[in-house]
Amino acid sequence: MRNLITNKLLHYKRRCPISLATLLKNHPEKRYLMFGGKGGLGKTTFSAAAGYWLAQQGHKVLVFSVDPQASLSDIFKRHIFGQGPVKIMDNLWAQEIDADRRIKAYQNEIRQKIRDMYGFTDLPEEVESYIRAASAEPAMEESAIFDAVVDIMVAGDYDYYIYDLVPLGHALYYLSMATVYDAWIGKITALREQMQEYDQVAAHLKRSDEGLDEDAILAELQYIKDRIQTSSRILTDREKTAFFFVLTPEEMIIQDTLQAAELFSRFQVPLSGYIVNRVLPEELKTQEIPEFLRHRLEMQGKYLAKIAETFGDQVVTRVPELERDVTGLTMISRVADYLCK
Ligand SMILES: Nc1ncnc2c1ncn2[C@@H]1O[C@H](COP(=O)(O)OP(=O)(O)OP(=O)(O)O)[C@@H](O)[C@H]1O
Ligand SMILES: [Mg+2]
Repeated sequence: MRNLITNKLLHYKRRCPISLATLLKNHPEKRYLMFGGKGGLGKTTFSAAAGYWLAQQGHKVLVFSVDPQASLSDIFKRHIFGQGPVKIMDNLWAQEIDADRRIKAYQNEIRQKIRDMYGFTDLPEEVESYIRAASAEPAMEESAIFDAVVDIMVAGDYDYYIYDLVPLGHALYYLSMATVYDAWIGKITALREQMQEYDQVAAHLKRSDEGLDEDAILAELQYIKDRIQTSSRILTDREKTAFFFVLTPEEMIIQDTLQAAELFSRFQVPLSGYIVNRVLPEELKTQEIPEFLRHRLEMQGKYLAKIAETFGDQVVTRVPELERDVTGLTMISRVADYLCK
């Protein structure tokens, strides 16, 4: 009899989703939190809400993003973009990296390095086009962004880092950057070899007997690559990182989420659970509601059942559709209540 009860309890426990709050309490080593998912499903909303909740628990938290849309500025109703860490409330900071500015600074830095290396004040056209080729690569952009992310994450100023990700495809792209980088470095190496003749000119101009440090640029690229690897190591750290997928009860979204989850697992991203957003309140069913809404409720019911069947106890929580969009601390705290109850 006792066994039967224990089994039932265990069964119930398995079926009953573990909340985000419980998950974080049970795993205090998880310090890097990420919310991923398709565009517009609630990543920024949950990043802010989780940050709010953790800050209230007394942890020092940074919510940050590289999104040029400045969504954190919108949700916190503060000018955050490109400002460094901005204090939102006790224990909570938000930061939006101005990637464009960072990329330009980065390109200039590389340009300067090459100039210094060759001792030219004005760069010859061939060298210019080499720099352009190097800096026009998407990898250069990502590198500048990764650099910023690594700077933030390794500084260790906060107890929790919440990385408000850009929509799925892009996030996956970031994760695959280490591989992309190998290809890029290969390409740059080839270009570098084509430039050998400039080495002689430069050595002559510098009147140096030692010649040039041939590998200065490659060393720089290697450094960038290492930074990217550090960053993807953080993102894929099974112990410290928790990655949550945000989805809504809709057919296409469920399908896309399944596919994306599979891809993420291929990149070794440690998946901690799914958050179902925009669930219509159950109590509507008992009220006089228009046919249109009844229909949506039925549709959602069907997809919620499918989500339960597909993702089971990996569903961390369901968050209802609220009566208005989520901006400002009052609304954020309401979402935090649902997310972390
Ligand atoms: N449960 C909810 N109830 C009402 N509005 C919501 C809810 N969740 C999110 N929203 C609103 O939906 C919009 C999109 O949410 P959010 O910006 O968090 O999505 P996102 O996944 O970060 O989008 P993007 O992919 O563009 O970064 C916002 O206006 C937000 O306030
Ligand atoms: Mg967002």
